[in-house]
Amino acid sequence: MENLENLKSELLAEIAGVSDLKAWDECRVALIGKKGKITEQLKGLSALSLEQKIETGKKLNVLKSEIEAALAARKEVLEVEELNKKLMTETVDVTLPIRPEAQGRIHPVSKIYEEVVAIFGEMGFEVAEGPDIEDQFHNFNALNMPANHPARQMQDTFYIPNKNSDDFDDSYVVRTHTSPVQIRTMEAKRPPIRIIAPGRTYRSDYDATHTPMFHQVEGLVIDKNITMAHLKGCLYDFVKAFFELDEIPVRYRPSYFPFTEPSAEMDIGCLKTKTELKIGAGTDWLEILGCGMVHPSVLKAGGIDPDEYQGFAFGVGIDRLAMLKYGIPDLRTFFESDIRWLKHYGFTPLDFSSMTGGLSNNGGSAR
Ligand code: DAH
Repeated sequence: MENLENLKSELLAEIAGVSDLKAWDECRVALIGKKGKITEQLKGLSALSLEQKIETGKKLNVLKSEIEAALAARKEVLEVEELNKKLMTETVDVTLPIRPEAQGRIHPVSKIYEEVVAIFGEMGFEVAEGPDIEDQFHNFNALNMPANHPARQMQDTFYIPNKNSDDFDDSYVVRTHTSPVQIRTMEAKRPPIRIIAPGRTYRSDYDATHTPMFHQVEGLVIDKNITMAHLKGCLYDFVKAFFELDEIPVRYRPSYFPFTEPSAEMDIGCLKTKTELKIGAGTDWLEILGCGMVHPSVLKAGGIDPDEYQGFAFGVGIDRLAMLKYGIPDLRTFFESDIRWLKHYGFTPLDFSSMTGGLSNNGGSAR
């Protein structure tokens, strides 16, 4: 067996010559497989004397380990080479133009959200947020709706059990309106406050103009000497900017909300025909939002002294605004995830809303 050194260099050369993983596997079988060259050598040991068996056996085992190590090292190199080859064929040219037919769209609700934020942002409002899952204190009690208050029935509430309490008053709700963000804002910061709170809201209701999940924007202004005149001026500017009209008739009807006193609903002038709704002209009226002066009990619940500060608040349905502005007849279609619908009513990502650059940008080729 003096030719083991020769055998070693011959086998190492064979391994080095292997050029891909398939050939590598064949080589592995040919060297250390059941009928491989090294295995044959080991089998040949039985013909030797005991002494020779021990000596040659040792050498053969060392050789076998060396060959195994050389095979493993070669395999690693080949794997990297093959991966690199594969990656070279899978390159993506990020400079290629997008495929227009695959272009994403902005949902009308997101669009209205952006428009409302742009308008109130210009007036100096900040965007505030609150949780979708609320406790009853923030959703009801602090808004002047204690347990058993009849106004709670006005909102078909989804309740969520509280694992830590059997008391129904401790159960959570998915917020029925964005008004709880008023309370959370008062708890977190001192006046002057000027916020809008857009977000999801939930009620057990389902037809062409109601879905169990919908969107609202809440508005809240608190400062010294805030009056109904501020509310009217602010909302008038909002509807003009939102409907992109220089003039728009508005009126306020007395209403009732537990969290405002006095409360009002704002209508805008429009023309309703069988086939069309034209906003800003005609002798008909369209209800657009609820509003009022923040009730002293609500200020108190938020830790604000009503003798020192006053405020106004309002709540608008974003989905309803989208239906009116973009002429969408059925609210349920908003949430059906039909790509054809989105292509028809949606907006391209480049139509972003700003007061200076245009709010809806939907007059040209954008849609
Ligand atoms: N939270 C009311 C609702 O969901 C809407 C609302 C009305 C909010 C008047 C207000 C407000 O802040 O002043 O029906």
